[in-house]
Amino acid sequence: MSLEVVVLAAGQGTRMRSKLPKVLHDLAGRPLLAHALDAARGLKPNSIKVVVGHAASQVRAAFADARDLTWIEQRQQLGTGHALAQALPSVAPDAIVLNLYGDVPLVRGETLAACAAQAKAGKLVVVTADVPNPTGLGRIVRDSRGRMIAIVEERDASPEQRAITEINSGILAAPAEMLRALIGQLNRNNDQGEFYLTDIVGVAVGRSLEVVAHKVACADDVAGVNDRIELARLERIYQRRQAERLMADGATLRDPERFDARGDVQTGVDCVIDVDVVLEGVVRLGDGVRIGPGCVIRDAQIGDGAVIHAHTVIDGAVIGAGCELGPFARMRPGTILGERVKIGNFVETKKTRLGAGTKSNHFAYLGDTTTGEDCNIGAGTIMCNFDGIAKHETHLGRDVFIGSNSTLVAPIQIGDGGYVAAGSTVTTKVEAGELAVGRARQRNIGGWVPPAKRGGTKGKH
Ligand code: UD1
Ligand code: MG
Repeated sequence: MSLEVVVLAAGQGTRMRSKLPKVLHDLAGRPLLAHALDAARGLKPNSIKVVVGHAASQVRAAFADARDLTWIEQRQQLGTGHALAQALPSVAPDAIVLNLYGDVPLVRGETLAACAAQAKAGKLVVVTADVPNPTGLGRIVRDSRGRMIAIVEERDASPEQRAITEINSGILAAPAEMLRALIGQLNRNNDQGEFYLTDIVGVAVGRSLEVVAHKVACADDVAGVNDRIELARLERIYQRRQAERLMADGATLRDPERFDARGDVQTGVDCVIDVDVVLEGVVRLGDGVRIGPGCVIRDAQIGDGAVIHAHTVIDGAVIGAGCELGPFARMRPGTILGERVKIGNFVETKKTRLGAGTKSNHFAYLGDTTTGEDCNIGAGTIMCNFDGIAKHETHLGRDVFIGSNSTLVAPIQIGDGGYVAAGSTVTTKVEAGELAVGRARQRNIGGWVPPAKRGGTKGKH
């Protein structure tokens, strides 16, 4: 018996008040729909069909790399029942169909698995939850024996029904043939004039089919996003879960409420992460890494014991063990730092590999540069890597010393132990052990009279 997942994502999401289709709004740096798809993939289904309609091409384009998806067009958004109906013709007759909503991002794999398992026994299974405030959601109506007999949308509900706090998550599963028959019975006799998927429960009960509610313990798992307030709430829940996972793995978070992981993050033991740190993409922190407040770290690997001081930005970089970076440093893509490298405030690196023990402590631009070990790059050093047309490389050997306020015009090489005097502009190769002095010689002029004292010319031209 195959499992086929259908994800409904054709709605506009009017309540978002946005030009972007709702399912493309980000949660933890990825579209809402991506989260629902991840949960679905965890079940290893035979197919995942995504029903799109509003801004369909935009939604499809956002998932252009996902080869495992089948796109189904719902030309007119006539309701959730109509949306699922568009997908059913392409579902195998003996399959189990699991229906998800693209705007329910925190759903857990185990909930979906439990739902699909019960559907295999020939039942219509609806995932429900008890919530303190059910406003806007479909209510689960039960009979005197506690059996689910219908789902009523809020706008169609009586005052008594509105008082019900058990809600429909939108997630349901059933055998394909059963769903086909039930959806065929839907009508648009409701406040919105739509084909409500939720009405299949009443139809199924009327036909004496087996209908069960699978109630989840944590309502947040199945919460939907309909406006930006709900989006922000779910973002914080997601972040809290990330934070708790990292703390369980042995990281100290100074304040789990002021921490954001937007991607695939792993920390070693005894990492300490201060407040307002944002980790994005694939981030790997070794043991004992310390991250100061306000750092943004994206697609980076940071070695054991490295210390990243406040407000440092690291993007696409590999940072060696025992490095010390920042405050206010910027490591751009292609930066590879050996062990114990020190990078101070207002130093920018790009496509640059620094050997172990090298230091650049203040104000510098190191682009397209490689150095050997234990170099010292003075304050204000600029690697002039761009001639207006192409980028060029700078190579320093080991133990090179670059005096403050020097410009090295690439392509350029400085051999082992080479020295550059402060304030130099270096345009030709410096051999090992040489001192390069590339600056105007100082003249001191005696008896100097400042212009202001030269007889009333001040301000005249
Ligand atoms: C829906 C449920 C409600 C439930 C709530 C849970 C219905 C009628 N109501 O209400 O019982 O409590 O979800 O979050 O199902 N969609 C389409 N095509 C359409 C309409 C919607 O693909 O024609 C998609 C949307 O893109 C969205 C999902 O279906 O991903 C749910 O639609 P939405 O309008 O958000 O329904 P709710 O009002 O939240
Ligand atoms: Mg919704």
